[in-house]
Amino acid sequence: MQRLQRLSVFYALTYLLSIVSADYLPFREHAGASFFDGWAYYGNVDNTTWGNVTYLDQPGAQTKGLTFINAAGNAVIKVDNTSTLAPPLAQGDVVNRDSIRLTSIDTYGIGSLIIIDVLHLPYGCSVWPSFWTYGMQEEWPNAGEIDIIEGINNMQHNQIALHTPTGCFQAPNPPQSGTTLETDCSTDRGCIVAETKPNSFGPGFAQAGGGVYAVQMDTSGIYVWFWSRPDVPMNIQTATSTDKMSLSTWGMPSAAYPVSACNVTQYFPPQNLVLLTSLCGAWAAVPDIYQSTCKTPTGSCFFDNVLGPPSNFDEAYWEVKYVRTYFSEDLPRPSSSSSSISSTPTASATQSDASAKSSGKTLTSSAMLSYIFSETSATLTLLFSVVVTSMFWV
Ligand SMILES: *[C@@H]1O[C@H](CO)[C@@H](O)[C@H](O)[C@H]1NC(C)=O
Ligand SMILES: *[C@@H]1O[C@H](CO)[C@@H](O)[C@H](O)[C@H]1NC(C)=O
Ligand SMILES: *[C@@H]1O[C@H](CO)[C@@H](O)[C@H](O)[C@H]1NC(C)=O
Ligand SMILES: *[C@@H]1O[C@H](CO)[C@@H](O)[C@H](O)[C@H]1NC(C)=O
Repeated sequence: MQRLQRLSVFYALTYLLSIVSADYLPFREHAGASFFDGWAYYGNVDNTTWGNVTYLDQPGAQTKGLTFINAAGNAVIKVDNTSTLAPPLAQGDVVNRDSIRLTSIDTYGIGSLIIIDVLHLPYGCSVWPSFWTYGMQEEWPNAGEIDIIEGINNMQHNQIALHTPTGCFQAPNPPQSGTTLETDCSTDRGCIVAETKPNSFGPGFAQAGGGVYAVQMDTSGIYVWFWSRPDVPMNIQTATSTDKMSLSTWGMPSAAYPVSACNVTQYFPPQNLVLLTSLCGAWAAVPDIYQSTCKTPTGSCFFDNVLGPPSNFDEAYWEVKYVRTYFSEDLPRPSSSSSSISSTPTASATQSDASAKSSGKTLTSSAMLSYIFSETSATLTLLFSVVVTSMFWV
């Protein structure tokens, strides 16, 4: 009898220990029929990267079928590939193709982990998809930006970057597998790391069955991972939306921005997630950049793609299995700078961005603390009673 109880105490403690040593607890899942809950649709022209697109509002997106859940239960977020666009009649006329920009209602501070499982990324000449975070509380880039997935035209690899005001750099020789192209995060292009693993973007990404991207915002730095489908770590493959997540088997990240050269707590207050597809614009349409991967009749991103037949955009869609977010159990020290969001709209915030700003949950250390408390108070009570019981038996 005594032996049996000691054994069960042992198992209970082992179980509790495994919970206590878990790295991240689930916060939010966007998946399946409810994928589009918790995002604001931009509902405006692209006035941040000047692509030739209009980002539809939610009713428009539904009517036009640019966001939906497919038969496999995955979210599809696409560019209009059914309309033939005529050239502008007069100089100065705006001709835009419809697309989608989603902004998360929730915000994520240091201590957060975000995982996105994607089957297909938009690609092709003029196409510029991105999945990124930014702090909306100040004028860009004063509250930071993390580019997790980004590429243009016929690029074959993903590009990761941070954007900040002056003073944040990528430290030399960071523990990463990717190739650093720029170390100063305050430059126009940000501090960039090019992915070196195969199939991180374009047709190769889709043909390999897609893959998983993850970003960890830790007090020690910001880290981004990519795995093509065959290489996705087992604990991500098998996780359900309610499982805790450990990073211990993930290996080296593709991009690492250690705190030694960038005080990430200072530069990255709570961030909204953004998922979009632009066309042409400030990066993809720059003539020598465009022509470096796209050989089209006139060499113009806009005239050779956005106009005319819609079939250019048959591959310009996201198919996303889920976006899952987590928070760290190893709580960072609560910091007041990351615990509040200004309600004053900023220049870079649209009306729908502004609604995202005022109604979302902010995942900061204090929010985590109350969440952890509510989630684990029962566990702690159990732990306490187990410890008390074991004291009697030992
Ligand atoms: C396409 O976008 C570029 C860059 O913003 C802009 O200069 C051009 O006028 C746009 N073209 C049309 C027809 O809207
Ligand atoms: C990093 O930034 C935080 C928040 O602004 C600040 O409290 C902290 O002192 C900074 N750390 C260093 C090493 O400068
Ligand atoms: C548009 O793209 C989708 C994939 O997103 C494809 O299934 C469809 O055949 C394409 N063409 C038309 C005319 O819808
Ligand atoms: C983009 O347009 C929206 C709606 O007009 C506006 O609220 C927002 O301030 C604009 N953003 C920028 C960066 O100009």
